[in-house]
Amino acid sequence: MKTLTVNLPGRDYDILIGSNLLKTLGENIKKLSPKAEKCVVVTDSNVAPLYSEIVSSSLTSVGLLVKIITLPAGEATKSIEKLSFLYNEALDFKITRTDVAVALGGGVIGDLTGFFASTILRGIDFYQVPTTLLAQVDSSVGGKVAINVPLGKNLVGAFYQPKFVLIDTDTLSTLSDDIFADGMAEVIKYGFIRDEAFLEKLESYENRKGAEAHLEEIIYTCCDIKRKVVESDELDTGERMILNFGHTLGHVIEKQYNFSTYTHGKAVGYGMVLAAVLGEKLKESEDGLSERIKKVISGYGLPTFISLDKNKIADTLLLDKKSSGKAINFVFVTKCGATKIVKIAASELNEHIKNII
Ligand code: NAD
Ligand code: GLY
Repeated sequence: MKTLTVNLPGRDYDILIGSNLLKTLGENIKKLSPKAEKCVVVTDSNVAPLYSEIVSSSLTSVGLLVKIITLPAGEATKSIEKLSFLYNEALDFKITRTDVAVALGGGVIGDLTGFFASTILRGIDFYQVPTTLLAQVDSSVGGKVAINVPLGKNLVGAFYQPKFVLIDTDTLSTLSDDIFADGMAEVIKYGFIRDEAFLEKLESYENRKGAEAHLEEIIYTCCDIKRKVVESDELDTGERMILNFGHTLGHVIEKQYNFSTYTHGKAVGYGMVLAAVLGEKLKESEDGLSERIKKVISGYGLPTFISLDKNKIADTLLLDKKSSGKAINFVFVTKCGATKIVKIAASELNEHIKNII
């Protein structure tokens, strides 16, 4: 097992990464929340049949009373309705402020449960147990918790750090190739924004099969990059924006396809390609960057072309959370491992994008 610590004033927490860790959940929670008597475990309909039993027996073995709440799998669960359902279920279970919540699942469950934990009874201890690659390398670390509202994704949320993140790499064995590929988009992103040697390893592993022999190291490297960025800019006002490489255009793709045809990872993968094409054109990025991104993402099953409607880009850009006023903080990779954030007027970015798609 490998351990990282996210150092934030008064809110340090560990990221535990390894095989066969789910069964240690109860004893680890008892160490940090010794007064807890009850534990609400939030999970989804795909994850529950696979992992809720082992999690439940680990928690009951240390004397916790457990309520498992299983929600429908999918992005639609990150809603005000499901949040309200969680409040009712937890209050009906008569939890108190010393009790705890566990998010067992992907980023949807992690974001929703984190927001629930941050608000119920003005905040209870919250533990992340991510079971997708995307959640293990990105969403479970850093404390961004949120729900979606009709006007957009993640528009209601908070910064609320977990007490720890427990990453059992064995859970990835049950992921479909498609969901695994989504996580690889974020993994590859870390290489391009911060670590060329890491990217070279991902290039040499070529595909899921190649990467699977190195999962603990891959997850450790990604979490280590993310924790350093979060430590330097927890509230996302500066450096943390580099994590959005590929995301501005990824969001345009997700929105144009009504958040259904292309998942976040697929959209971010092609979003990185487009950001690099634009960077090359504007001389912000080294030549050849976009081809390098295309090659590595295609090996991991991510699309290297997605058709976009030129007339529907502007609206999404203006709603982007990375925008400030009508300017967007656009992330360029200048050369592999290095980034630059450039403020671009939304109207100008719109024109640029129309010219490269
Ligand atoms: P997800 O939670 O919907 O999981 C994807 C699918 O995998 C679901 O069908 C789920 O049931 C299934 N699944 C989960 N674990 C499994 C397992 N071990 N075996 C088999 N199936 C499993 O999606 P995701 O890709 O994990 O996360 C996407 C969400 O994360 C989005 O809502 C996005 O906004 C959010 N996100 C948040 C942050 C953050 O910093 N908070 C960062 C990135 C993404
Ligand atoms: N996933 C982007 C962030 O945590 O800031």
